[in-house]
Amino acid sequence: MTDDKCGITAVFPGSFDPITVGHIDLIERSVAVFDKVIVAVACNQEKTPLFSVSERISMIENIFSHTPQVKVETFAGLLINYMLSGEAHVILRGLRAVSDFEYEFQMALMNRKLAPGIETFFMTSSALYTYVSSRIVKELASLGGDVSDLVHPLVEEKIKEKYSGS
Ligand code: PNS
Repeated sequence: MTDDKCGITAVFPGSFDPITVGHIDLIERSVAVFDKVIVAVACNQEKTPLFSVSERISMIENIFSHTPQVKVETFAGLLINYMLSGEAHVILRGLRAVSDFEYEFQMALMNRKLAPGIETFFMTSSALYTYVSSRIVKELASLGGDVSDLVHPLVEEKIKEKYSGS
């Protein structure tokens, strides 16, 4: 089979607090489609994250250290301004269920209104991971539940450190 990717870079934005197996699966599948995937970690002042932006970036960089097509960056403020400051024209978002659709559709339309040249592409999550979210991972972990099936072992370790206070 020939490599018929056409030089497109996609930006996969999100909070990634923390990155889950659902995100990892989507990133792995997206590098088979796009030449380069920039994982853009949102620095959102309104939320109180479990992990700092640099901790989140470091976990993602470690997980994808052997995947040169994946780069990790951060952005603050409007996603569309970050997109306009770079070369990429594609925003990549994952859809897990119908419940994701309304918000994602609204965001895609607003982003297109702000910058018509930037397109949003959606990839469906794998059926295995439709129920996985960073929020669920944090809730489970904070109550002593096992999150080993939901996150990379490296992330599981970091979560344990957070909740054990070490
Ligand atoms: O991991 P999430 O919470 O699904 O990520 C959502 C995120 C960070 C991609 C989204 O909230 C976002 O783009 N935030 C930056 C501010 C912005 O541009 N909002 C959309 C304006 S319509």
